[in-house]
Amino acid sequence: MKATQVKENIYWVGAIDWSIRNFHGYHTGKGTTYGAYLIMDEKITLIDTVKAPFAEEMISRIRDIVPLEKIDIVISNHVEMDHSGALPNIMELCPNAAIYTSGPAGVKGLTAHYGQRDYIPVKSGDSLSIGKRTLTFVSTPMLHWPDNMVTYCPEEKILFSNDAFGQHLASSERFDDEADLSVVLEEAKKYYGNIIMPYGKQAQTAWNTVNSLDIEIIAPSHGVIWRSHIPAIMEAYALWSNNEPETGAIVVYDSMWNSTDAMAKTIAEAFRDCGMPVRLYNLKSNHYSDIVPDLLTCKYIAVGSPTLNSQMMPSVASFLCYLKGLSPKNREAFAFGSYGWGGQSIEQVEKELETCGFHICMDKIRIPYIPTQEQLQQIYTNVSDMLK
Ligand code: FEO
Repeated sequence: MKATQVKENIYWVGAIDWSIRNFHGYHTGKGTTYGAYLIMDEKITLIDTVKAPFAEEMISRIRDIVPLEKIDIVISNHVEMDHSGALPNIMELCPNAAIYTSGPAGVKGLTAHYGQRDYIPVKSGDSLSIGKRTLTFVSTPMLHWPDNMVTYCPEEKILFSNDAFGQHLASSERFDDEADLSVVLEEAKKYYGNIIMPYGKQAQTAWNTVNSLDIEIIAPSHGVIWRSHIPAIMEAYALWSNNEPETGAIVVYDSMWNSTDAMAKTIAEAFRDCGMPVRLYNLKSNHYSDIVPDLLTCKYIAVGSPTLNSQMMPSVASFLCYLKGLSPKNREAFAFGSYGWGGQSIEQVEKELETCGFHICMDKIRIPYIPTQEQLQQIYTNVSDMLK
């Protein structure tokens, strides 16, 4: 397989995962890529590797440029196995290659995954000369693991950003100006929402660091390489990491006999008629990770569930559990649902929304069995009044 030239003597040697559809709970509808980069300098340097099953693909792309055994240096920006999984292959084939990683978290992580070895720890601000070029390391802890760092090459003005600025997107195009930018930005938003949102403060710190560097190329380890639309992705990260959406609503629910469905549609209609952009998500037909991008940029969230055996629907519980982990906060929220008797689900949903850090902006809406037209009209009025 061929390497792709990023700049003179710098190559993308990663792998394309066309088939993956679940990345530990994240629905990767468009697959993904694992970005690894080869720098041909006095010291031949490999930045990150790929997921283990794709080791041969990476190795064949490297061999398109240089015998693999000639690699002198490996930089591990991030221990997670989608980027370090092929490290054992490199260790075996290049036993003398020096492996640099963040210290102490990267050393600890690599040791736990691949055993004891003389990993070389680096810290933020450290630089490494590889010949004509220098590599400078910038620590980005908890973006999204403790070990994360990014690597900057000032002579080439390239940032090897690992997970940051990435997208789960399998494509034959390697650069942002070759792909459909709207798709790339949509996938970058989904990636941010599902992976990076819990670490918004760290993302802002990283954004400030990156913004202070002279950058012509951002080479992430997922998706396409940014070279023509860096302002667009930087602007988007600034907005998302600010996490203070001013408008927009999502209505998320499941339903048993269409009563909660009717309530959800009435609520969505009320938002819309008040001039609030709204998205309606039935959890029967939407994966929770596909809902998160809209949550990222919306101010209101309404969540509905009928009562099933004294509980909320499992699909709603699953969505709320996922949401709690992402810790979006700074949203206005309320619960709704129909029930036959008991009706515990609506209060359970409200409690979970509070646990997510949302402000409850309206009393929960509970309707026994089937909502009448009058009750739906009252729901519409209540939501409209709340938005005044
Ligand atoms: Fe793409 Fe955190 O690994």
